[in-house]
Amino acid sequence: MPTPVRTRELKDKKRRGEKIAMLTAYDANMARLLDRAGVDALLVGDSVGMVMLGYANTVPVTLDAMIHHTAAVSRGTERALVVADMPFLTYQATIADAVRNAGRLMQEGGAAAVKLEGGRPVIDVVKRLVDVGIPVMGHLGLLPQSVHQAGGFVRQATNPREADALLVDAVALEQAGAFSIVLEAIPSEVARAVTTELTIPTIGIGAGPDCDGQVLVSHDMLGLFDGYVPSFVKQYARLNETVVAATRAYIDDVKAGRYARPAAMVAATPPA
Ligand code: KIV
Repeated sequence: MPTPVRTRELKDKKRRGEKIAMLTAYDANMARLLDRAGVDALLVGDSVGMVMLGYANTVPVTLDAMIHHTAAVSRGTERALVVADMPFLTYQATIADAVRNAGRLMQEGGAAAVKLEGGRPVIDVVKRLVDVGIPVMGHLGLLPQSVHQAGGFVRQATNPREADALLVDAVALEQAGAFSIVLEAIPSEVARAVTTELTIPTIGIGAGPDCDGQVLVSHDMLGLFDGYVPSFVKQYARLNETVVAATRAYIDDVKAGRYARPAAMVAATPPA
């Protein structure tokens, strides 16, 4: 059994100048494959709402749904650090709610850390979670849970005033005890400045090449999703085409009566 990655190791990687590879996962099977490939961290993102559940954004995702998917990912993971997103309104109303809800993601979901969106408005929450022993990953730049307020999924920190504010938020998160920060959809020079200023690692998504690591939605990276894929995503496969081609071949076989092998007399048991 491999030694699990801890939050401290991500900070050590930054110190050594080693990049951090993170991907999203939402189920045990995909988690097992990505973990086997050696990814450092798996994010059970609330993007599950868009990628797996068919919602237009992440706002409808519930805590129970996140716990369900986080538990599946935890069951499929031996080594990678499992980070679970705290969904919309599970940490903004009261600090007591935030502690209880983050606790459920860890106790019932098996997460080793939680991620939440925002800077100074959530600093007291971050401090309390860290104080009670819950590792927190911050998330700045494009905040998908604020899509309605932002007026869409739009790039952030594109002027000096917003860039300065983002840097202040990042420093506040580090001082509050966050172990890492996701920087989403911001200009590379802003991401570079934040990365240089902080001692904790930055993980970029659409934030240029100078962050301490990158996170992508695994379905985008693998081409498993046949909807809109953001322009910054490098696709390493086009699995949606493989699925359609394999399914067509299956349909042809069934229609032609070319059924697969007969079932064995004794039900197969899965390997231990
Ligand atoms: O939910 C998610 O997948 C995320 C990533 C986009 C960072 O928060």
